[in-house]
Amino acid sequence: MELGGAFTIFLTLCLTCLILLIAWKRADKGGKLPPGPTPLPFLGNMLQIGYNKTYESLLKLHKKYGPVFTVYMGPRPVVVLCGYDALKEALADQGDYFNGRGEMPSVDRNFQSYGVAMASGERWKILRRFSLSILRDFGMGKRSIEERIQEEAGFLLEELRKTKGAPIDTTLYLSRTVSNVISSIVFGSRFDYEDKQFQTLLAKINESFTEMSRPWAQLYEMYSGIMKYLPGRHKYLYNLIEEIKEFAVQRIKISEASFNPQNPQNFIDHFLIKMHQEKNNPDTEFNTQNLITTTVNLFFAGTETVSSTLRYGILLLMKHPDVEAKVYEEIRQVIGPHKIPSVNDRPKMPYTNAVIHEIQRMTNIVPMGVPHVVTQHTHFRGYFLPKGTDVYPLIGSVLQEPKNFRYPNVFYPQHFLDEQGCFKKNEAFIPFSHGKRNCLGESLARMELFIYFTAIIQNFSLRSVVPLAEVDITHQISGFGNIPPPYQVCFIAR
Ligand code: HEM
Repeated sequence: MELGGAFTIFLTLCLTCLILLIAWKRADKGGKLPPGPTPLPFLGNMLQIGYNKTYESLLKLHKKYGPVFTVYMGPRPVVVLCGYDALKEALADQGDYFNGRGEMPSVDRNFQSYGVAMASGERWKILRRFSLSILRDFGMGKRSIEERIQEEAGFLLEELRKTKGAPIDTTLYLSRTVSNVISSIVFGSRFDYEDKQFQTLLAKINESFTEMSRPWAQLYEMYSGIMKYLPGRHKYLYNLIEEIKEFAVQRIKISEASFNPQNPQNFIDHFLIKMHQEKNNPDTEFNTQNLITTTVNLFFAGTETVSSTLRYGILLLMKHPDVEAKVYEEIRQVIGPHKIPSVNDRPKMPYTNAVIHEIQRMTNIVPMGVPHVVTQHTHFRGYFLPKGTDVYPLIGSVLQEPKNFRYPNVFYPQHFLDEQGCFKKNEAFIPFSHGKRNCLGESLARMELFIYFTAIIQNFSLRSVVPLAEVDITHQISGFGNIPPPYQVCFIAR
């Protein structure tokens, strides 16, 4: 080899080492982090975590290192919390320290820390307070939104009747109806089920959630620093989310065109009023970026989580006809065949309530939680987490914790029933996360799940097209989210 060529290679190697060292140093914020597997420079704990089973790998490390440990996602240290006690101590007892939003490289470029779900600090506090108060004004957790859900459930039942018992994939059926509930709050109107633009949008939301959970996205969590400069699937996810944002922009324009500050009709109108009130404040958080991103956050989170849970729940009920039969019997006794289910019926229906809890536990929709970050230097269980340390609250480790659930990997509604068959609360039931930054839409989601499940089972029995032994309930993809497997089901009118 010529001397010049060898020198170039030597120089390139030196430069690469220097870049890796700088990246490593930048990630190292000092402190006394909890122990964990020894990381390799830059590669971090790739050897222990891999790239396609992050959650399962972290559970294995939990067995070895206990409830609180550190892993290196590439060059970045992340403190992992497992089990109810650790999550509670951090997210609830020390919630003021742990309530920042951690890095999510696969979507950070879309949101850039704007919007209620991705913001931290004062911005998050302001947007969270505002969003909650508007959602409550629109009846979240109250009777008015219940009527909206009941009406929407009625439209779903009509659609299911039209199938006349033929096998269907439930994905679009469920996402259309669920999305219309949050749409009426955020945009002030529902969409026609046949609306092609609406259908395309729902497909994009569904696809984005799936993409965020794929192995490439798990790899991206570790090596975004380099991967962002390379071609790949992350560009596709970026574009999908940008298209969803573009839809929000169009809806905001529609709201602006008919905007009457005396008579706000939806979430966007209320935000526009705030923008107007604070237009002379250069530091206001009521700006266009926060309006667009918060609209997307509510619409996305309000659609995908509930519809995925319903989709997986229907699969579980189809797989367990004995459970479905008991739910139907309780519906028959408490609600009867004609009355539309209402959340007032729930206290009288312990078995159905237990089944819905167990469905949510098994769905385990975001097993690793949504990343948090400590917003100030934090002492926790004898360790010292410098400001800016990312934290993964492993929600799944709580929902599958053997000390709280007798058969952690089995669909067993009795997890939520006592000896007398009364509903039994379990503090480890935290699918909505825990503490100050828990799910903003929890009460809406709980209403929706109850009304949809009971309305469906009141009107239809579920039939599988394949023998029950062949019905596979393993999640199709498991990453950031758990994605239910595809399946066909027949809705047989009762
Ligand atoms: C089965 C249904 C649902 C589940 C399991 C669920 C779960 C979660 C979880 C685990 C988080 C992360 C909390 C954290 O950072 O620790 C979250 C956040 C959030 N959820 Fe939900 N969610 C559901 C339904 C909904 C609905 C219907 C809405 C609509 C309003 C919604 C809106 C949000 C928002 C805006 C956030 C971000 C909150 C923040 O960062 O302050 N979710 N959800």
